[in-house]
Amino acid sequence: MKTMHRLLSLAAGVVLAVPALQAAPAPDTRVTGVIRADQSGPVIDRNIYGHFSEHLGRCIYEGIWVGENSPIPNTRGIRNDTVAALRKIKVPVLRWPGGCFADEYHWKDGIGPREKRPSMINTHWGGVVEDNSFGTHEFMDLCEQIGAEPFISVNVGSGTVQEMMEWIEYMTSDADSPMTRLRKANGREKPWKVKYLGVGNENWGCGGNMRPAFYADVYRRYNTFAKNYGGNRLYRIACGPSGDDTNWSDTLMDIAGRQMDGLSLHYYTLPTGSWTGSKGSATEFDEAAWHTTLWRTLKIDEYIRKHSAIMDRHDPEKKVGLIVDEWGTWYDVEPGTNPGFLYQQNTMRDAIVAGLNLHIFHNHADRVRMANIAQVINVLQAMILTDKEKLVVTPTFHVFEMFTVHHDATSLRVDFVTPDYTFGDRAIPAASVSASRDAAGVVHVSLVNTDPNRALDVSLRLSGLEAKSVSGRVLTADAMNARNTFEAPQAVKPAPFAGASLATDTLTVKLPAKSVVVLELK
Ligand code: AHR
Repeated sequence: MKTMHRLLSLAAGVVLAVPALQAAPAPDTRVTGVIRADQSGPVIDRNIYGHFSEHLGRCIYEGIWVGENSPIPNTRGIRNDTVAALRKIKVPVLRWPGGCFADEYHWKDGIGPREKRPSMINTHWGGVVEDNSFGTHEFMDLCEQIGAEPFISVNVGSGTVQEMMEWIEYMTSDADSPMTRLRKANGREKPWKVKYLGVGNENWGCGGNMRPAFYADVYRRYNTFAKNYGGNRLYRIACGPSGDDTNWSDTLMDIAGRQMDGLSLHYYTLPTGSWTGSKGSATEFDEAAWHTTLWRTLKIDEYIRKHSAIMDRHDPEKKVGLIVDEWGTWYDVEPGTNPGFLYQQNTMRDAIVAGLNLHIFHNHADRVRMANIAQVINVLQAMILTDKEKLVVTPTFHVFEMFTVHHDATSLRVDFVTPDYTFGDRAIPAASVSASRDAAGVVHVSLVNTDPNRALDVSLRLSGLEAKSVSGRVLTADAMNARNTFEAPQAVKPAPFAGASLATDTLTVKLPAKSVVVLELK
């Protein structure tokens, strides 16, 4: 899926009713190109639509776990409304227990009778008391209820190899052993299937402040003892770089590339680009902040390219996946909320961020095998926000729901030319387009318009595809900061889309300003 990006071309050829004396030419709104349905790319792994749940703020407690005695309807302590919502977006894989929390988590504290579980202080996230009432059994139950594969991050920073070994044995072995007897005593007869194992988290930072060569050796040691029991096969993910730290990815691939299945990448979108001072408000922003947020989020494309080029050198057969296991927007917390809880609202801007990132992951599906947006509930760019018994889904949730059609579909090449959306002295592409063919042969096209002011006139020739009908849905809103609240939970939601048509071999779309559209061609 190759995109060609050109500089803003001014009025030439655009027919607009502009008064003769008005000097400023109208910006070009035309997006033209070809969907090459006869040129299949890699399969878009459904795990690109993965999620992340950390013991942070109100993600696990309140968002997921309310306990069996809660008046909020629940199944074995897990809230039913959360499960129902997550089933709608077909969460393929769920990462847990962190994050920074993973490197201070001791799994044995989270098993057995809840009233006997020891408490700890969650030093990273608000210094609150963690009572360990949500542990391994509860997490596995959640995964089973929502139909997701578990992705377990083990404690490297403050844990031990033995601790990791015993956890893997506890979860996946069906032999008669001390760990399996303990599991059975805690009510789980059969082992669980655990494929994804993260060996530490951000070990260049909160996971131990290690240097890359040191961590690479630590990784090799942990990996040696990460055993496959019975039929269970682990997919081992090493801690990778943040942003564009190519020294980290190069060193890891050099020293441990042959011992890993995946290398992680973390990249967060901060409107101001600064970790100190204000990161920017989630809801009170102007067009400058809208534009700069999208400009910054698009940088992940460049970072994936850089790390992929390094991985290609060490691993030309692309055996090792690039696992973007933390991504999304990171704003100032909602006023009045605990700064350590990372609770932020979610607007139409986040929906555009989601669409752009997911398209970038599609474009790199040959290397990017999984991505986990941070985080699933009540933290950062969440799918769901809760307030006691109330629950709303966010604009980002809707993009994930609309894009489920791309899960495990075969990507199709799209060549297109887009005008820029320019603000100040920076320009980004106005349009982003992606296409795939699902197992039933149906082609889906998703489109994003980053420009909050102008609709785009999209014209895409269909090569190798005879489509007779087009239908679809659109997510858009009048305001850039439109959002769902507990008072107005349906303010932003997908609607049927009537702006697409087919004529001979061409798909024409009037793509509304600040929108995400998904079309089905049959
Ligand atoms: O997602 C919040 C935090 O961001 C995670 O705990 C950490 O891995 C990252 O720095």
